Amino acid sequence: MLEITFAKPALPEKGALALLVGEGEALAGLGAAADQATAGALGRALAAASFKGKKNETVTILAPGAGLSRVVVVGLGKREEAAGRATEEAAGTAAAALAAEPEAVLDAGPVAPVQAAEAALGASLRAWRFDRYRTREKAEDRPKLARLALAHADAAKARAAWAPLKAVAEGVFLARELVTEPPNVLTPAEMAERCRGLAKLGLEVEVLGPKEMRKLGFGALLGVAQGSANEPRLVVMQWHGAGPAAKGRKGAKAARPLAFIGKGVTFDTGGISLKPAQGMEEMKTDMAGAATVIGLMAALAGRKAKVDAVGLVGLVENMPSGTAQRPGDVVKTYSGQTVEVLNTDAEGRLVLADVLWYCQERFDPAFMVDLATLTGAIVVSLGHENAGLFANDDALAQTLIAAGQATGEQVWRMPLGEAYDKLLKSDIADMKNIGGRPAGAITAAQFLQRFVNGKPWAHLDIAGTAWSSKDKPCVPKGATAFGVRLLDRLVADHHETR
Ligand code: BES
Ligand code: MN
Ligand code: ZN
Repeated sequence: MLEITFAKPALPEKGALALLVGEGEALAGLGAAADQATAGALGRALAAASFKGKKNETVTILAPGAGLSRVVVVGLGKREEAAGRATEEAAGTAAAALAAEPEAVLDAGPVAPVQAAEAALGASLRAWRFDRYRTREKAEDRPKLARLALAHADAAKARAAWAPLKAVAEGVFLARELVTEPPNVLTPAEMAERCRGLAKLGLEVEVLGPKEMRKLGFGALLGVAQGSANEPRLVVMQWHGAGPAAKGRKGAKAARPLAFIGKGVTFDTGGISLKPAQGMEEMKTDMAGAATVIGLMAALAGRKAKVDAVGLVGLVENMPSGTAQRPGDVVKTYSGQTVEVLNTDAEGRLVLADVLWYCQERFDPAFMVDLATLTGAIVVSLGHENAGLFANDDALAQTLIAAGQATGEQVWRMPLGEAYDKLLKSDIADMKNIGGRPAGAITAAQFLQRFVNGKPWAHLDIAGTAWSSKDKPCVPKGATAFGVRLLDRLVADHHETR
């Protein structure tokens, strides 16, 4: 992780400088100081580049003098409209432009301390990289940025604002790392072990294996797992952060935890309804919903969020084999409802069915939000720009949409309804696990809703947003950890006791 420090503004004697500049603004602060120290080299370069300060517009000036190796100037757009996101993105863009520098000083301009911290967040998120399995990379090919000093007059306040954001960044990194890990390494058991490691943050972590799940009657989840040599796991993570005051003040209702549930298919071959070879390797990301829940729980615990929350992840591998479930099998879910499995590749909903029911029965949560790389159909509907949001509760849907806009992890609400639900009718069981090609993301959500027993619930289909094929200002291409920041914001803005 990028090492972040905060200090009073001072020109570095050598090394790199990054400046975030609003639209139409003249150089100020360290920018003005550097311009003066280089006899106007910065101003001339910006004029020559017709720099306007538009969002993420970038000018890099090499060796302008005064010992500076590089000055990176990034636009914020209009300063008065520049909310947290613009600062984060400009800082992320700056971090990418600074990749060749081991260290740099960043001046975000005349901003509140919290914005300096937001700049630190944006830069950190962009500078993340997974290189566990690179053993022969040449030093010159490797990004070098290791230390970033944020310049702010009130460095102490900025540093204090960074502490919780750093915890969120660490949750994002954990989720990205889990999604990026190859499927031979990240089996259900290994993923559960990594969850156990979060006990050090103060999370209560329980792991259930196949024996316990068989006893409980998780027929749907176990049906998916039965073709794999790698055993399934259910991980339950609890964070108790609301404190006794919450119960006293608001009565029993406030004691209900928020619940987050993730699909954790560590590899989805499709099972006997085997997927085509082309692109199948992408299905190592089919545990992204679980990774997000794990990263979120780490973030909440890491920043000691004043909330009670539970995170449950159903971890399985979907493989074809002599013990695999067949198209046509009927399984009995933990809820008691039976499912005719007509396509073994519609496995995520089977996993979630048991976990959702177990979650509400055990925790009686205030609401449940599940995340799942559930359908290819949501990618057809919304591409990679929005996750699909399905909800039985308008207030919950609205807060999720708002949190999406604030964090850039955007969600778009999709419909639910009886006419879609009917498409799940089975000839021999309570339902079938596929609803046909039309409205595939919606019928998948309808299936999940049958395992929601009247609780406020939202489902995020993140099949299109969990992985990015291109760099974004705060997200290098690859695993995005979509949902960690969104749900952390949902909690922070609406559900923390003060
Ligand atoms: N994991 C896939 C969905 C998926 C597709 C995730 C693309 C990420 C990218 C899911 O288990 C699946 O296979 N869904 C099927 C459902 C169908 C059989 C009803 C699909 O979308 O084709
Ligand atoms: Mn599948
Ligand atoms: Zn899947």
